[in-house]
Amino acid sequence: MKKNKGLSSTINWVGIISFFVLIAFVMQMAILCYDYIRSKTENMVLVAVLILVEVIILSTFCTVFDWIRRKIMIDIPTKKILSATEKIADGDFSTRLEIKHDYGKYNQYDLIMENLNKMAGELQKNEVLKTDFISNVSHEIKTPLAVIQNYATLIQDESLDSETRKNHAKTLISASKRISDLITNILKLNKLENQEIQEKHETFNLTDALAESVMEFETLLEKKNLELNCDFDDVFVYSSKSLLDLVWNNLISNAIKFTPDGGKIDVSLKIKGKNAEVSVTDTGCGIASEVGAKIFEKFYQGDTSHSTQGNGLGLALVKKVIDILGGEISVRSQVNKGSTFTILLKDVVYEN
Ligand SMILES: Nc1ncnc2c1ncn2[C@@H]1O[C@H](COP(=O)(O)OP(=O)(O)O)[C@@H](O)[C@H]1O
Ligand SMILES: [Mg+2]
Repeated sequence: MKKNKGLSSTINWVGIISFFVLIAFVMQMAILCYDYIRSKTENMVLVAVLILVEVIILSTFCTVFDWIRRKIMIDIPTKKILSATEKIADGDFSTRLEIKHDYGKYNQYDLIMENLNKMAGELQKNEVLKTDFISNVSHEIKTPLAVIQNYATLIQDESLDSETRKNHAKTLISASKRISDLITNILKLNKLENQEIQEKHETFNLTDALAESVMEFETLLEKKNLELNCDFDDVFVYSSKSLLDLVWNNLISNAIKFTPDGGKIDVSLKIKGKNAEVSVTDTGCGIASEVGAKIFEKFYQGDTSHSTQGNGLGLALVKKVIDILGGEISVRSQVNKGSTFTILLKDVVYEN
């Protein structure tokens, strides 16, 4: 990272020049005064006294000059910075400092002020994210909890036939699963964001890993009568298998979820030099461009008709994993025609 961006120079030229001018001025005045006094009197005691007076006057002048210089150049910006840090420490993250110089002509104080402004901005952003996160999580938990409360009450009715009771129990299980999935995803995302998950890299067969992920959805695919086509190059890669499994599972489950019965899903794995490219294409509802801009945000769900399944964290997780692994994700989509999610894993191919 480039340090001290915008700083005019690491040398404080104004300080050096004012110090130099002051010393030169004092010496010049001392020489002139000495010459003048010597030309007026031969009395050395008087000369000494007058020189002493001159030194005292000059010293006083220098002290006052230096005091003013310090006041303007050091005390004023320090006080401003101090008062801003106090406000920020008290939780006022809207505090900003006005920087007097233009970018590129900054002195050290301007740079501190700019960093302080950035810090306050980041804290303010985090505060908003935190409140948003809390309200999103509360909302996501409240809905299935209400279902659990309702059905737990209904199931107490002894006159219920066993079929209805079984259905109520299923609803209870699925609502509680939603809460547990939500918590699992939040914890995973949190660990990824705090870099607590060590992406254990290993050499593995990506073709097999992808095929295994697809197979896990066999029942779901059959249930929705979806046609599945797989076109896989054979490849070993060096990457994190467990993190990538998370990606495939989310992309395939989304493709299934957002594709109506009888649709088609294509999964492909192509080798491009040292890179591997995985695409998941569906013939589902597609993504409108205004929705597409937000799908990687936490808790964002574009299609509310499916909002009872999932919690809008899937693609946020996918994006985070791909960022960590140094890959790229792209989406192509047409409303009511379908979508293609493509993942490019860079420099991972081990052998093929
Ligand atoms: N294959 C897809 N087809 C259409 N829309 C999709 C697809 N995948 C994701 N989306 C959109 O992106 C949103 C976010 O996806 P995701 O983070 O996985 O959340 P969730 O699946 O819980 O809704 C979805 O709500 C949906 O609007
Ligand atoms: Mg999802």
